[in-house]
Amino acid sequence: MKSNILVTGSAGFIGSHLCERLLQLGYNVIGLDNFRDNYDPLIKRENVHSALEHPSYKLVEGNILDADLVDRLMKQHNIDILVHLAALAGVRNSILTPLDYVDTDIKGTVIMLEACRKYGVSKFIFASSSSVYGNGTVPFRESNNLICQASPYAAAKYSGELLCKTWHQLYSIPTVCLRFFTVYGPRQRPDMAIHIFTKAISRGLEVGIYGDGSSSRDYTYIDDVVDGIVASIDCKCAFELLNIGNSNAVDVLTLVRIIESKLQRQAHLRFLPQQPGDVPKTLANISKAANLLGYSPKVPLEDGIERFISWYRLKN
Ligand code: NAD
Ligand code: UGA
Repeated sequence: MKSNILVTGSAGFIGSHLCERLLQLGYNVIGLDNFRDNYDPLIKRENVHSALEHPSYKLVEGNILDADLVDRLMKQHNIDILVHLAALAGVRNSILTPLDYVDTDIKGTVIMLEACRKYGVSKFIFASSSSVYGNGTVPFRESNNLICQASPYAAAKYSGELLCKTWHQLYSIPTVCLRFFTVYGPRQRPDMAIHIFTKAISRGLEVGIYGDGSSSRDYTYIDDVVDGIVASIDCKCAFELLNIGNSNAVDVLTLVRIIESKLQRQAHLRFLPQQPGDVPKTLANISKAANLLGYSPKVPLEDGIERFISWYRLKN
């Protein structure tokens, strides 16, 4: 019989895809999400629609900061694996409301780690971020010295990793911190570039480009990211930090050109100031995840964008 997994942030972009995959694999999945309004909660309701039809899925609407609720869930459902995705995830927005990020992303992580300590789990997976590398030189390797994060969000994710390491050393919780690189695909958050650009170009609106359009990202398709999470659940790791990227950096102007060609519409560009908190470049070295997890991203950016656009057209 498969284990019982608690997935926090289960109604979000990555969480909803992960839950569906885990259900396909035969796990009993308990999803915890508070449907907060950092973006339209109706989108999150739609994200969970298909999982809710599955008999092995239970959705709990609640806050990860409610330690009593988390305790009850751990006990009641005999949780064996905890995948902690719930967070505030916007890089630029974190400069506007830093305290909210400290509460959700740091305090929330401690509450999860305490639940793991009290109830014992066979694996804790923490959603970290490429942003922990800050303005470091690419490609980013897990062995890099991390000097300074560029946003409160990035600093909060780095704090989360440090807390995971501390709890692992104190209580031997088997832990994997996954550094995801700009994830995209169907259900991508509406505050992220591929979603914003697709919407603007489809509607003939201006596309706001931060800086001169040369900043580049290692865009990673959602199915590849879910492969990485599932492989981390299965791996016999004590404590690991792993990059989950695509290993191919693309600049913003090229990204816009790809979306234009798939939509067969021209973008009206408007160049805006560089945003505080943004880094110029991300690029993952993925050899550690390849060796430990057999991680091997399969979806090239052009194909992934086509899939995103098909989904977008269905929904709009
Ligand atoms: P998302 O916002 O779509 O999902 C996060 C979910 O967490 C949301 O549904 C939200 O309602 C929930 N949540 C927030 N605060 C909560 C709370 N206090 N209690 C319960 N639920 C709460 O974001 P996403 O893009 O799916 O990101 C998921 C995780 O992956 C986050 O931890 C994010 O930092 C990390 N990550 C994402 C990316 C990316 O490119 N999307 C890259 C690196 C890391
Ligand atoms: C993304 C996610 O939003 C974070 O949750 C995640 O932690 C991070 O990836 C990560 O890899 O760890 P970001 O890379 O900023 O953050 O992703 P987007 O918001 O999609 O931005 C991508 C690029 O487009 C950036 O260079 C940004 O400056 C640019 N952009 C974005 C614009 O030029 N215009 C916009 O309107 C939005």
